[in-house]
Amino acid sequence: MGYSRQIYDEADKIMQDRRNRALKNADNRKKRFFQKYPEAQELERQLSHTMTDLIRTMLGNKTNLSVAMNKVKAENLATQMSLNQIYRKAGITKESLEPHFVCEKCQDKGNIDGKICDCYKQLVKEIAYNQLNKLSPLKLSSFDTFSLHYYSDIKTDEEELSEREQMQLYFNKCKSYAENFTKDAKSIIMRGNTGLGKTHLSLAIARKVIERGFGVIYCSAPDILSKLEREQFSRNYNKSEESVEDTLKECDLLILDDMGSEFSTNFTKNKIYNLINHRLSCNLPTIISTNFTFKELEQTYSQRLISRIIGEYMAFNFVGHDIRQMKRAEQMNK
Ligand SMILES: Nc1ncnc2c1ncn2[C@@H]1O[C@H](COP(=O)(O)OP(=O)(O)OP(=O)(O)O)[C@@H](O)[C@H]1O
Ligand SMILES: [Mg+2]
Ligand SMILES: [Zn+2]
Repeated sequence: MGYSRQIYDEADKIMQDRRNRALKNADNRKKRFFQKYPEAQELERQLSHTMTDLIRTMLGNKTNLSVAMNKVKAENLATQMSLNQIYRKAGITKESLEPHFVCEKCQDKGNIDGKICDCYKQLVKEIAYNQLNKLSPLKLSSFDTFSLHYYSDIKTDEEELSEREQMQLYFNKCKSYAENFTKDAKSIIMRGNTGLGKTHLSLAIARKVIERGFGVIYCSAPDILSKLEREQFSRNYNKSEESVEDTLKECDLLILDDMGSEFSTNFTKNKIYNLINHRLSCNLPTIISTNFTFKELEQTYSQRLISRIIGEYMAFNFVGHDIRQMKRAEQMNK
């Protein structure tokens, strides 16, 4: 699936809690029932004994096997009937004393015969989604909340398209990209001045792609680079564990926001180069957003990297005026 180890750890913990809670609640229900109907506890004890008797009979005396087995079975049935009578008297069913799992299919173990259960996949998706939500106003950044009215519909003679028409085109492309996303989808670079909706549209893509069950990592370049730096130079760094870097290299979709706004050092340049290059070589999609022009990108990173990006990424050049400011003005006027 391609999420970070932290997400799987959290999912494992939730599954474990669910299972423990189901078992504990069932245990409590049974205890209360036995307190009220002690004779039921005795009958249950007998039932479990008849099971061991049955096994012993099967392993032991072969000559009278069928006679012995029938006797054990008859006893078992009689005990079961007495128990059922008590259940009826108490107004409950046998099932109501059993554990109630969130997922009956895997009994909250997360897998069935070693195969990952759907409930676990769903849970991992929800955790990834929530994590992203904590980092950014994901709730507000969907395709539904993206409005074209912020972009001018005036068209000058030299221009083929108005800003609104241009942005409508990008919007359609982003939406269809998210709806048809596959692990070998193309990469995208969103370029443009501040406040034009680059982060908004990349988060809208993230949201949809996560909903469709893919592993998406959204991060801003400065944040992730300082994380990588800490990881690299941490003395406690355990090489056998999956690193942040591996996750960035392998997730189904990486969204690298604000590229170029990190404090530039040889370390950051190398990391960005390796990351983007690795994902391109493996045909894994990346969405980059940046305020830099291609020229500025070339000056900051290696020319080789930027020419690969120009050659292989779809480029969306955002146009318009700072929507962050327009929204602030709208708020003030309310
Ligand atoms: N077309 C739009 N419709 C509605 N809200 C928008 C639109 N574009 C941007 N916004 C909102 O305006 C704010 C700024 O947008 P966003 O963060 O996407 O800009 P950006 O291009 O990423 O800017 P920066 O380069 O500074 O990171 C956000 O709150 C975003 O939700
Ligand atoms: Mg942004
Ligand atoms: Zn399950």
